[in-house]
This record gives sequence, structure tokens and C-alpha cells, in this order.
Amino acid sequence: MNPRPTPSPFSPIAIGPLTLKNRFIKAATNEGMSAQGVPSKQLVKLHSALVAGGTALTTVAYCAVSSDGRTLPNQLTLSQSSLPHFKALTDGVHQAGGLASAQITHGGCFTFIRERSTKRPLSASGGFNKIGLMSGMFLKQAMNEDDMRQVVRDFAQGARLARQAGFDAVEIHMGHGYLLSQFISPMYNKRRDQYGGNLENRLRFPRRVLRAVLDAVGKEMAVICKYSVTEGVRAGNSAEDGAQIARMLEEEGAHLLVLSAGMNAESITTMFGSSFPKENRVQQKNKIIALAMAIQRRKEPTVEFRELYLLEHARKVRAAVKMPLAYLGGAKSLASIEKIMAEGFDLVAMGRVLLAENDYVNKLATGASRDSICTACNRCVAMMYTPGGTSCVLGKPGDAVLNSQKAAG
Ligand SMILES: Cc1cc2nc3c(=O)[nH]c(=O)nc-3n(C[C@H](O)[C@H](O)[C@H](O)COP(=O)(O)O)c2cc1C
Repeated sequence: MNPRPTPSPFSPIAIGPLTLKNRFIKAATNEGMSAQGVPSKQLVKLHSALVAGGTALTTVAYCAVSSDGRTLPNQLTLSQSSLPHFKALTDGVHQAGGLASAQITHGGCFTFIRERSTKRPLSASGGFNKIGLMSGMFLKQAMNEDDMRQVVRDFAQGARLARQAGFDAVEIHMGHGYLLSQFISPMYNKRRDQYGGNLENRLRFPRRVLRAVLDAVGKEMAVICKYSVTEGVRAGNSAEDGAQIARMLEEEGAHLLVLSAGMNAESITTMFGSSFPKENRVQQKNKIIALAMAIQRRKEPTVEFRELYLLEHARKVRAAVKMPLAYLGGAKSLASIEKIMAEGFDLVAMGRVLLAENDYVNKLATGASRDSICTACNRCVAMMYTPGGTSCVLGKPGDAVLNSQKAAG
């Protein structure tokens, strides 16, 4: 049993040096509103609207820490030249009464960028790159000590730049199959040195990155880690591994963990808790990504959405550590959020729900709504690569199927 009194989701909480006005985080959802790698006015507007709508901390998704760290061209990249544009975003968020977190990340071999400083994309291990089936880069390169030192420096510098740009927190992306996740995952990490083998060794490099970021900004900013508690496939990390990972990140000094799950290429339905409709493929203008979606759809079983679909896994982490934890995955009603709080989680991170209703937190606070309109249809995921960027399709003209679903509740 959890001995602490259940906090209200609307009560403040300290995360490292930061105080959040309530327990709601907007989870990173790559918005794609970043021509030339800088936040567009539309992105500034979206994040400002999210905090004006009650969310305490909004996460700006996928801010690459280097040009090589991008997964796609036009992805947000932290650099001296992009700094003023990020500053416009954090100013907008602060003026709207909230806080901003930069998700800092490196794609490793999960990348479509061909112009890079290394011949092959970097990863924990070299050899055949299965992501190459989509990107055309069929071989990846194992990182050596120099590469690791460079990436550690890039993350620390990315965090410093985020600070200069006015961000209040950084979220180190350690999940979903990107570079740091490629070290943590036994599916990607086949190293035989001190960075491979058992879980402790596989965590050694991500821990180095975390330490460097904490040393760089940890006194002024909240340093958050997002990772995949379970990878959702037999050959990957299980939730038991996920609990051990949390212990190590706690020991290293992370201020908060955001508990995600699944891997982009192997287990996307584990991440989203529901299948992807075939409309996503049709809507997808990028043929390579459309093909990948088709393969994925054939490979993965149909998954029916249920609220709090990651709770079983997250509970294992809650039992393993004392540090603050943000529950993530299918929280879409006041009842779910209250349950999460009662189970000992400190915060709730929400992705799709807040795309559907930017002001959902205010609606909960005022009693204007209890249940989100989000149907977890995952159509927002395909919107990511459309010219207008990521958005909810509910209520959009021409979407008769979804509008009728919405009408049906
Ligand atoms: C359109 C879209 C884009 C996403 N992009 C990212 C991303 O860039 N980084 C990340 O860590 N998670 C990303 N996610 C995953 C979400 O952060 C979250 O883990 C997932 O949506 C499950 O939470 P939910 O049930 O509250 O939506 C994305 C999700 C969506 C819907």
C-alpha cells in the first residue's frame, strides 16, 4: 500500500530545482512545425496554447543535440543560430503562465539524414542497420570512445543551449529506439566491452550522458529522462528490466522519469496502446514511411485501446524507486488521472489527449469536462509529416468516420 496521502493532480510539485503549478505534463509529440530546424510561429502558438490551457510543463519534442542527431531534415536542432527561435517559444510559454521542457535527443541509426559527419550512422553496435530498410543506409557504425565523448559533449551543450533559450527543463530521450535506447536495448547493443552485455553495462553510456547533463544544468533546470520501461518484444527489455533501469537513473541523480514503452521499429503498438489505421498509410505522402507503416501493420497484432494501458508496467517501476515518476500512456479521463495519483505516481504526462484538446487540463480543473474526446485513433501520428504538422483530426471537415465516432462518444 502507498502510505502517502493522495495528492490532487492540481497541486504543485517540485522536480529538481523547478516547481510545477500542477501535475500535468504535455508529452513530446513531434509536431513537425520546424522548417529549417527552428520552431515555427505555429509551434510557438501550440505550446503557448497548451500552457494557457492549464498544462504546467509542455515538452518540445525531438530537439536534436547535433546535426547528425536528427532523424529527418527540418527537425528541430539546438545550436547557436537556432537559439533566438527557441527563445521566442519559451517566451510565449512563460507569458502564457507555464513552463517549457526541451526533449534533447540523438537518433543514432534511426535516421534518414544522409549528409552526416560519419560515413555510416552511429549506434551502439555496427553491422546491418534494419532501419536502413527505410532510410537506405544499410550499415551502421559502432561508436568508439571518441564518438562517445563527442555525443556526451553534444548532449551537455544541447542542455546548456536549452537553458540559454529559456527552457526550464530538459528531457533526455532514452527510449523508443533512438541512440541512447540503442545502448539500453539488448536488440541493438551487441557490444562486448564495458558498454555491452548486462543491463548495468548497457546503461553505462546513457548514464554518462545523464551525468554530463546534470553537471551542465542540473542546478538550474529539471533534468528528466524518458525511456521505454518495456520494449514490448521478447528479445527486448522487459518491465522488470525497466524497474532496474529506473534504479540506476535514480542513483545517477535524474530528477524525474517519464515512463514510456515500446520501440519505433519493433513495437509501436506497445508505445501507443492501439493499432494504426490503414488511413495513416494512405494519408502518408512520404512513400518510404508509408511502406514502413504497411510492414509494421502486417507484423503487429491488432491492439484494442484501453485506458492506462501501461499501468501494469509502470507499477513495477513505482515499486522499485522513490524518485518522482510521471505516468504516461492512455490517461484520458479524470478517473484515470485520479487513479494514477492514488497509485503513487507524482505526475501524469499526456500526448494525444492534449493534441485533441489543448485546454483539457483547464476543463478538468473547472469541471467543464471529465473525459477527453480523444479516441486513440492514432491519426495524429500520420499528420506528423503533413505540411500543416501534427494535429488531431477529430472535428476536421471531411473526416466523416471519425466525426461520427466522436459523435457516438
Ligand atoms: C503524433 C505523435 C508524435 C510523437 N512524437 C514523439 C516524440 O517526438 N518523442 C517522444 O518521446 N514521444 C513521441 N510520441 C509519443 C508520446 O510522447 C506518448 O508516449 C504516446 O503518445 C502515448 O501517450 P498518450 O497515450 O498520452 O498519447 C509521439 C506521439 C504522437 C501521438
